[in-house]
Amino acid sequence: MPKYTIAWLPGDGIGVEVLDATRVVLDELRVDAEYVHGDIGWEFWCKEGDAFPQRTIDLLKRVDAAMFGAITSKPMKAADADLAPELRDRGLVYRSPIVRMRQLFDLYVCLRPCKAYPGNRLNYKPDIDLVMFRENTEDLYSGVEFAPVPPELAALLAKLSKNFAPFASLGPDDYAVSCKINTRKGSERIVRAAFDFARKFKRRKVTVIHKANVVRATDGIFLEMARRVAKDYPEIEFDDANIDAICMWLLKNPSNYDVLVAPNLYGDVASDLCAQMVGGLGFGCSGNIGEKLAVFEPTHGSAPKHAGKNKANPIATILAAKMMLDWLGETAKAEKLEKAVAAVIEEGKVRTYDMGGANTTLEMGQAIARKCKA
Ligand SMILES: NC(=O)c1ccc[n+]([C@@H]2O[C@H](COP(=O)([O-])OP(=O)(O)OC[C@H]3O[C@@H](n4cnc5c(N)ncnc54)[C@H](O)[C@@H]3O)[C@@H](O)[C@H]2O)c1
Repeated sequence: MPKYTIAWLPGDGIGVEVLDATRVVLDELRVDAEYVHGDIGWEFWCKEGDAFPQRTIDLLKRVDAAMFGAITSKPMKAADADLAPELRDRGLVYRSPIVRMRQLFDLYVCLRPCKAYPGNRLNYKPDIDLVMFRENTEDLYSGVEFAPVPPELAALLAKLSKNFAPFASLGPDDYAVSCKINTRKGSERIVRAAFDFARKFKRRKVTVIHKANVVRATDGIFLEMARRVAKDYPEIEFDDANIDAICMWLLKNPSNYDVLVAPNLYGDVASDLCAQMVGGLGFGCSGNIGEKLAVFEPTHGSAPKHAGKNKANPIATILAAKMMLDWLGETAKAEKLEKAVAAVIEEGKVRTYDMGGANTTLEMGQAIARKCKA
């Protein structure tokens, strides 16, 4: 029996192609694993009214880890229009399967390393080596949302907050409410994960991202917990920055930053910015990590305009596979894989369209696989 069972979830659009290219690399590395396909994505929303079917949830309960490609998510009205006619008017509500997966399996760490590999012409500056810890289960992604707004909620908000006054006379359809929910426990454990990482890998500094001067309640808790946790790691420098300011400072002086930790939405935003500084979404890898399961994926989405053209850059997904190998304890194979990626980038002979070349997704996977063999 293989040592590992890995769920293989291609999803939509370029997710399929980048996962195929990644498999070529994992096969070359002879990882002792069985890869089990799981259905996920827009096709299953349209056909079954569920983009994350129960059978895929059951699969994830029995695997050691998962590789995920990407999914397509559309706004409410477009999602309803794409449903099979027999499924319409049944009150089905689309929710992003990756967001559901993170919550269902309590994958509370979203780990996103962003490294400028030498020779990558797309690097914004050399020597960028940032690691984002994004809280992955709470915040504005809690899914507690109202559109239209029920009158009993409006009445309660009017009673409890004087700041609700400008909205109190609106009709239920004239506005919407999305709840930002941040817990002490959720804030503490993501900050602790960031500091544990910094200690383990001898990183010099952890920066917490927030907007506590305006979003006082929820970001206030996040910042307070971060300050508390930081005291347990006196050897690591700690500072904090507002989300708007850090977007500017990261661009100005990326080398001033090291490990970053943020609530869900700010982490999502800032990690795309970090990915762009090291080559763009074709290089942004991500791990969704909990106590029992971890799911690895590129940061990017299904990029419909490139789907089926075999032109997307698979490096983000291949680096996500490197993260998976690290997580499984296969550190020698992980190191080999990262060196192979670095060598292909540095040589610059094989390049996908985003890198200024014309090689295909699969050719990039094959080039990295050849380096793994060498
Ligand atoms: N985790 C996920 O699955 C995830 C994440 C983000 C967006 N999405 C979904 O993906 C769909 C498309 O969203 P979008 O277009 O805003 O974002 P996207 O990340 O899919 O693509 C944006 C653009 O980035 C570039 N790009 C992305 N991946 C690339 C790659 N591997 N190689 C080269 N270039 C790449 C392309 O120019 C692309 O058009 C939407 O339905 C969205 O909801 C899913």
